[in-house]
Amino acid sequence: MDIARLTNLLPQRLRSQVDAYFEAVSVLAEIRDPKVLRSLGPSGLRGLILHRGKQGVPTKIQATHRAHFDWTYPADNAEMAELYRRAKQGQWDADTALDWSTDVDPLNPEVPLLPASFVDFDDLANRGIRLSGADQQRFLYAITAWMLSQFLHGEQGALFAAAQVTEAVQFFDGKLYGATQVMDEGRHVEVFSRYLDDKLGRLYQINDNLYVIIDALMSDGRWDMKFLGMQIMVEGLALGAFGTLYRQTSEPLLKSLLRNVIQDEARHVHYGVLALREHITKELSERERQERENWAFEVALLMRNRFMAYEVYEEWFEGTISRATWREIVTSLPGMREFRQVMFSRLVPNLRAIGLLSPRILPHYDRVGLLQYMDGAAADELTAEGMLADLDRAA
Ligand SMILES: [Fe+2]
Ligand SMILES: [Fe+2]
Repeated sequence: MDIARLTNLLPQRLRSQVDAYFEAVSVLAEIRDPKVLRSLGPSGLRGLILHRGKQGVPTKIQATHRAHFDWTYPADNAEMAELYRRAKQGQWDADTALDWSTDVDPLNPEVPLLPASFVDFDDLANRGIRLSGADQQRFLYAITAWMLSQFLHGEQGALFAAAQVTEAVQFFDGKLYGATQVMDEGRHVEVFSRYLDDKLGRLYQINDNLYVIIDALMSDGRWDMKFLGMQIMVEGLALGAFGTLYRQTSEPLLKSLLRNVIQDEARHVHYGVLALREHITKELSERERQERENWAFEVALLMRNRFMAYEVYEEWFEGTISRATWREIVTSLPGMREFRQVMFSRLVPNLRAIGLLSPRILPHYDRVGLLQYMDGAAADELTAEGMLADLDRAA
């Protein structure tokens, strides 16, 4: 059955709904490992079909992890203790570290939130969408607000995940370090929320695919799955997105906000690599390791293929172009290509460093074009300054 041809016969609005449903089913159908499907499936249902993140009411997710106490307070990991020391010294107060008196006009082309080159407007015109100069500014404003809204939702997930991992992890030095990360993530929620509220006056709902990842790692009782999901996958996504926006924006408050946040996030991924490398290479059976390896690959695909800003589509183009055309547009946006490049150049070396890129999975990464990032530096070989210098050089 040719679903695309069948759905083309439907009225435009219904066509969008059917397309969204088939896309949700295809996300789950693509998952080959039954264990991975069991762990992502219920979250997929809640996020993609029931749209739990978009109900306009608080979402309750059952957490099932076990808290790990140790009454002997061992000094058990020197590298984590060092990260804890650096994290204490790296704390900053958003009230004083950032200049909130900056006047932000999201539609001012002299100080653009994003440059016009982020979107290829000629390509859009070729697809039948002609935007005036003023509409182009409004569109770039919408894209920026959508990205920052997803950052904010991701930071809420990071805040709770960091708190859970602090309870559950077995390294005592990791718990002390984790306390600083909880503070960091709280501050990130604060700054993104404040920027969206005070400066952009917009907040988009959570993207369904981001909801799926957050739901999955909240409800998984295994601390290392939370860790893998949050400290490696979502932090990788965040670094890709923060890095791209940091590089592209001309708005000075947003730029300095992102600079500060990136410095914190670099520590978080570093901690993720330290803790998971110990755990995966020394504690897990080969079967358990393979399950995580498959899970990471599926989530990487989800992050590469599925962050399609449908919330912007619904606001701008629903009824004008199909979701399939929108997907093609988003996939080929120059800014999104850069985002994927920055994200995977951080993520793939980290997966290698924690032992989740064994020869058995490499052909899969190769098939989807992600093997080119294999030889980059992992988070424990990079400083925050080095990471920022990389971004500044490329700007
Ligand atoms: Fe964060
Ligand atoms: Fe973080």
